[in-house]
This record gives sequence, structure tokens and C-alpha cells, in this order.
Amino acid sequence: MKVLVIGGGGREHTLCWKIFQNPEVQDIFCIPGNAGIQNIAHCAKIPCEKDFSQVAQFIKENKIDLTIVGPEAPLADGIVDVFGEEGLKIFGPTKEAARLETSKVYAKNFMKKYAIPTARFETFSALDKALTYIDKQDEPPVVKVDGLAGGKGAFVAKSKEVAMDACRKIIQDKIFGLAGERIVIEEKLKGGEISFFVLTDGKSVKPLVSSKDHKPLYDKGRGPNTGGMGAFSPAPLKPYLFRKIMKRVVIPTLQGLKKEKIVYKGVLYFGLMIYSGEPFVLEYNCRFGDPETQVTLPRLGSDVVDIFQAIDQEMLETIDLRWRSRAATCVVLASGGYPDSYEKGKIIKGLDEVSKIKNVFTFYAGVKRENKNFLTDGGRVMGITGMGKNLKESAKAAYRAIQKIYFEGMHYRKDIGCTRGY
Ligand SMILES: Nc1ncnc2c1ncn2[C@@H]1O[C@H](COP(=O)(O)OP(=O)(O)OP(=O)(O)O)[C@@H](O)[C@H]1O
Ligand SMILES: [Mg+2]
Repeated sequence: MKVLVIGGGGREHTLCWKIFQNPEVQDIFCIPGNAGIQNIAHCAKIPCEKDFSQVAQFIKENKIDLTIVGPEAPLADGIVDVFGEEGLKIFGPTKEAARLETSKVYAKNFMKKYAIPTARFETFSALDKALTYIDKQDEPPVVKVDGLAGGKGAFVAKSKEVAMDACRKIIQDKIFGLAGERIVIEEKLKGGEISFFVLTDGKSVKPLVSSKDHKPLYDKGRGPNTGGMGAFSPAPLKPYLFRKIMKRVVIPTLQGLKKEKIVYKGVLYFGLMIYSGEPFVLEYNCRFGDPETQVTLPRLGSDVVDIFQAIDQEMLETIDLRWRSRAATCVVLASGGYPDSYEKGKIIKGLDEVSKIKNVFTFYAGVKRENKNFLTDGGRVMGITGMGKNLKESAKAAYRAIQKIYFEGMHYRKDIGCTRGY
């Protein structure tokens, strides 16, 4: 069997690493991949936007049996629809189904229509109306760009003025282009965040183990939001809350999709805020998380290719999803200056040593290879995942390994895994 993974970050490295464990998989391909993924997959730099015809050609030439989509952008561009028309097997939601992530306006209206708990909101395309609305609010709200913005489209404003400024930048200065033609303005929620993932084939649903991401750049949740500085699993989730999330959020979402006659096949990622024991949906994402994947897949005892195939054939209910009891913590190593501007091309030291450590996995992201060296080549350079009998042990394993790694300007949070559960 031959499998293709679309994407080039730590999430995609983890997907390739997990797929590689299936004995029937002879070949893994990755577009565009990265220098680390090259150890286990054939990486190819083929344009993967808009018409996908070259990717489809690549698949036919290499007789690839199944494609897994990592990031959201190809989903937003309808890669699953195009492949479906060509009869090519692919894991991920259609363009229409992916609107739950690719349009925040659509997602909020969907939640309202199906009474899914979320922050009170209004949507706007006219600046003056948006500013008037903010002025009437008691508290500074959150302003969100409608379309995809690479994780930089949500403004949790400290004051009304800051919120108004965000609207001016989005609607007037068009800093997000078309993605900012419409915006969502919603009340700011208090509480703690968790990521909640489920697999679905449009008929049945299976939750993944719990996990928690850390978006802010610095310890204790300080600094700007990033694509994610680390994650851990399990994120202790009390059974009563798990049941509430399934009953009030997951099931109504899947029933709503059914009523909209949308068949959703893939992973559905709920970004939740837990406030006094109640779950509220901040957002939907239609793909695996990064870096949550780097802690959930290492804990998966079942075969991931069997799962993807079962979803393709709408046989998910036949899958026995097994998890390992060991805990996992992933710490992301980033370039100095990320998420703003940063330098690339720094030599990375200590990787060979780390590769020999048991219970520690290196999932590469922004790296390139020059001669024998790995050099930094992005904001998030790699994720170091440690496994252990409990969270504390898994975090210790990750941080002990990181002591051996060095590149100029290297930044990472020291507190991944040090937060309480729900
Ligand atoms: N209503 C809200 N109240 C408080 N904080 C919020 C609210 N909405 C969003 N946030 C904060 O902003 C972050 C990003 O918001 P959101 O997840 O909706 O945007 P995104 O750009 O799609 O992010 P991602 O990259 O995770 O997909 C959230 O993780 C949360 O910390
Ligand atoms: Mg999102």
C-alpha cells in the first residue's frame, strides 16, 4: 500500500511516523514534507493549491492508494472534492463541510441554528456598524476574521479601542485580504481552554484522547498567540464534562451537519472554553491539531491507516479505538523572534544524541538539510515529544532531551504540561 500525506509541519511528520508503523505500507509520500520527514517518506515539492491537477497526476504516476490531508488550506480549496471526482481515496472533509473552519461567520450561524453553546456574537462587513456595536458593549469583545488567517485572525481585545482598531485594520486596511471581508464580534469568555477531537465517517463518531495546546509564546500563558508552543495528553477531563461535551456540543454538531445534508468525513477539532463546568465552542477546526497530534498519535494503540480506511468506507463503528495509558508531552522549539520576524539557517546541534533516547520522539517542522547538518528553516522548528507513565514523567523526558539540543536563538516554554485539568 502507498500513502500520501499533504503538508510539511510537525503534525505531518507525526502522521507519516504513525502510518509508517503499518506493516502493509510499503511507501509513504509527503507534499511538500520537510528535511526531517525525508527520513521516512519521499518528499516532493508539487504545487498543492487551487486545481490540484499536478498532485492528482503525481498520485496516478506513483500508484498511491490513499491521501491524508494535514493542514486546512487545501481543504478550503476543495482538494477532497477534486479527488472525489477523480475516484482517488482521500481523508478529510469536503469544501462545504470544511466551512465549519474556513468561515467563522458560517460556523457561528451554524452553532446558533443548532443551539450549540458559544459566545454571544454579531457579524459585520461594514466598519461603521461594527464600531457602533463595539461602543455599545459593556466589555471589550473578541474580533475574528471570517476566513482562514493562519491562527492570527482572532483579536482578544484588552479594551474597546483595541477591538475597534482591529476592525479598522481588517475591514479598512484589509490586512487579511478577502478573509477579512466579514468579521465576527463576540463576547469574551472566561475559563480554561481544551482541544476536543473526534473522528467521524458521517454515520458514527469516536472521540480521540483528550489533549491540551499552549498557544501563548511565553510561560504562564503570557505573550502573543502562536500556532502552538506545546501540548500534553491526557488533559484530565472529568467524566461528567466529557459527557456534557458529547451531549451538548459534538452530537448536536453532527446532527446539524446531517440536517444540512453535509456528509462530514474526517477529524473534527472543537476548540472549547470551559467556564464553571460548562463547555462553549470557540471554534471548529477540520483537521488534526498541531502540536496536539504530536501527543495524541504516539498514544494511539490502534493502526491509523485502518482508521482512515474505515472512515473512507463509512465503517468507523467497526474500529476498536485503543489507547496506550502512557502520557505524552510535546515541547515546541521555535526560532528567536517567532511569531514575528525571525532568522533562518541556524545549525541545530544534539539531534543524533536525542534520536538515541528511548521514549522521546523528534517531530520536525521548519528545518532544512545542508550537507550533514539540519538548519532551522521556519518559526516552529521542531517538537520534542516525551512519553512517560504519567504527565510529569513525560514532561521530564521531553525537557531532559531538550537539554541536549541547541541552535542560536532557540526559544521554548518551560511550563508545558504544568497546568491543571477540568
Ligand atoms: N470568545 C472568546 N473569549 C475568549 N478568548 C477567545 C475567544 N475566542 C477566541 N479566543 C482566544 O483566541 C484564540 C484563537 O481563537 P480561535 O481559535 O477562534 O481562532 P483561530 O485563529 O482559528 O485559531 P486556530 O489557529 O487555533 O485555529 C483561542 O485559542 C482563545 O485563546
Ligand atoms: Mg481555527
